[in-house]
Amino acid sequence: MAFPERFIYELKLNNPIDSVMSGYVSLIRRGRNGVCLCPFHSEKSPSCTVYIDDPNPHFYCFGCGAGGDVITFIMKIENYDYVEAIRFLADKAGMSMPEDAEGDRTAQIKSRILEMNRVAARYFFDTLAHSPDGEKGRRYFAERQLSPATIKKYGLGYAPDDWHRLSNYMRSKGYSEDELVTANLCGRSKKGGIYDWFRDRVMFPIIDLRGNVIAFGGRIIDGGDRKYLNTSDTPVFKKSSNLFSMNFAKKSDEDRLILAEGYMDVISINQAGFENVVATLGTAFTQEQARLMARYAGEVVIAYDSDEAGQKAAHKAIDLLSNAGARPKVIHMEGAKDPDEYIKKFGASRFKLLLDKANGAIDFELKKCREGLDIGTDEGRIEYLKRCLNVFADISSSIEREVYIGRVADETGVGKDVILRQVNGILKKRQRQEEDREWTEIRTDRDKMRSSPDEYAHPKEYKAERGIIAYLAANPEESEYVQSRISPEQFTTDFNKKVYAKLLEKIKNSSFYDILSLQSEFTADEMGKITEIAINSKDVNIDRTAVDNFINFLLSEADNLGEVKDLTDEDFVKYIQGLKK
Ligand code: CTP
Ligand code: MN
Repeated sequence: MAFPERFIYELKLNNPIDSVMSGYVSLIRRGRNGVCLCPFHSEKSPSCTVYIDDPNPHFYCFGCGAGGDVITFIMKIENYDYVEAIRFLADKAGMSMPEDAEGDRTAQIKSRILEMNRVAARYFFDTLAHSPDGEKGRRYFAERQLSPATIKKYGLGYAPDDWHRLSNYMRSKGYSEDELVTANLCGRSKKGGIYDWFRDRVMFPIIDLRGNVIAFGGRIIDGGDRKYLNTSDTPVFKKSSNLFSMNFAKKSDEDRLILAEGYMDVISINQAGFENVVATLGTAFTQEQARLMARYAGEVVIAYDSDEAGQKAAHKAIDLLSNAGARPKVIHMEGAKDPDEYIKKFGASRFKLLLDKANGAIDFELKKCREGLDIGTDEGRIEYLKRCLNVFADISSSIEREVYIGRVADETGVGKDVILRQVNGILKKRQRQEEDREWTEIRTDRDKMRSSPDEYAHPKEYKAERGIIAYLAANPEESEYVQSRISPEQFTTDFNKKVYAKLLEKIKNSSFYDILSLQSEFTADEMGKITEIAINSKDVNIDRTAVDNFINFLLSEADNLGEVKDLTDEDFVKYIQGLKK
């Protein structure tokens, strides 16, 4: 939807980019700008710059090419669409949303899907609780020792063993086939009909922080293909950014969250009296989820399965959680394969002890180093020390590093100084590698971001078009002239064509004209590219003559200009200016 300009203007004024971003990154002021580690790719030295005092405050990451104003930032980091980001910022600033005159179409679809999910969840629940068909599900949950209260609390259900039961029911409630398919409650068959997505499964509704049913997980009962089936991503659901049971966990007063591996573990831990437990939704743990958890608790105890896969996953989660600013810990479970089994065998209070005794991340890693070794032997000790060196090198605080080194020195009888020297050697080597890696990553990331196929197929046109756009962004009063000379249709690359067209439209229709306010028309990633154009335009002086040259070049379709792909924008301007037409 289109918001009144005045509203957007005030929204941005009330949400200064530095204070909003400070909620997610630690921003260091450097003169008129701020710098921080980019929250959108992993890096050890900051390449994200925040232009705080700019008339249109914005950020740009020279590493991965992410960029935009405060609205784009929120879209990206919270994974919101344009309207959601605006609503979020309006809430934050205590502003009320303007009347939604156009009746935003995506908002409508979303609310319709949420409604369908709620109706379906109710249907699954009722089937489980009351219908003869539900007997199978009831027996299953009874076997797994879930109480009726827990079933009710989580709204668990049963999807009947039938291809059309749910769809017929939903249609009788007025939902169309297309809507059911969009919500992924149904699939579409090759012949064009629809069929129920979940059949003969116990159902776990996934509920977001606002209490909406956004998706389902369904577990098979008898065994067979695909133990768990989940809703695919839909307009209201993104697997990688939600956590199961976060709606309950967020209400807990504890400064600790428990991260378990699956639905059943979460429910069984919760039933045992721990409200503060969540799990991912059938995918690997992501940075986004780590950030979400860090926002609610200082400490995260990882309670994954005790098998090798679980421990490996724990190792990855530790990194993501520390990156997000949480203190990760890992429980050490013996005599059970997962928390569900542990609680059944040993009870809730023993589980509580496990949580309290959970190892800090470093203990967890050091313990892993010892696995399979006999440190009573020389070989064992040497191998143990070798493995430990890498763990030490991972510790960022030097005091902490010394403490742990001291401990292992005592354990092995090897001098502390010797170990410390080795570790410093590793650190130096790593730093060099890190620098190399960052540069390669920067290059490949940028290439990826920029790699509209167009840009490679027509590098010269692409650059000329960008020049025109940059000129226009800096000199809106020139728009009539520029437009009279070249129309969007005469642009070669699709992306620039669209940017140029939207920019002309924006300049014509608005008084607060700003190239970074094109978010309603572009994705957050595309906004990064647009921000890049805006930033380059500050450094490269493009004047009327340069623009004329760009335009002439585009209109003449002259080719054979040699390889200009690798020229900087500045050199390209000179290059074009030097061309004799
Ligand atoms: N999972 C999935 N698809 C599968 C297997 C697992 O999406 N085919 C996800 C589910 O979210 C599941 C989690 O991975 O909850 C953990 O898997 P697993 O340990 O196999 O399941 P449990 O939760 O332990 O379930 P159960 O105890 O019923 O076996
Ligand atoms: Mn399991």
